[in-house]
Amino acid sequence: MSARVGIVMGSTSDWETMKAAARVLEEFGVGFEARAMSAHRTPKAVAEWTEGAAARGVQAIIAAAGGAAHLAGVVAAHTTLPVLGVPMPSKHLQGLDSLLSTVQMPKGIPVATFAIGEAGAANAALFAVALLALSDRGLAGKLETFRRKQTEAVLQAAPLKL
Ligand code: RP5
Repeated sequence: MSARVGIVMGSTSDWETMKAAARVLEEFGVGFEARAMSAHRTPKAVAEWTEGAAARGVQAIIAAAGGAAHLAGVVAAHTTLPVLGVPMPSKHLQGLDSLLSTVQMPKGIPVATFAIGEAGAANAALFAVALLALSDRGLAGKLETFRRKQTEAVLQAAPLKL
């Protein structure tokens, strides 16, 4: 399956969290490529991977990093593909540093930023699916089914008791 979504993260230590994005893409049958590379430790590799993404067939990039989380912004600087940023939880500031570093992009280079951690990872993947679904009726149908089942699961929960 060719990769339609790129997932990049600042460290292999982010992968446990970012598996939530990969699992969503797998559930929808969307091919992805996942790489760990860093805006600070491997800046040239980030630029090369990102600049080649569109030619490889990638249509959206999910970029995750923690701490001084510049990865999503740097990726966005190297492509016009949509970049979806996911702030990673961090040791000292619980991801607030990651969130602010990812979300506060200067005008002209957007990064769509999601929630800190696993919820953000899963939602970034769902958002990527929604982007691809704009020109893929099969995927649009799968997304509608996903939403309907999610609604039904909430409504079918047994009444809550003490
Ligand atoms: C960031 O620093 C990574 O995205 C990760 O969230 C954090 C810690 O990285 P490691 O020290 O575990 O490699 O660059």
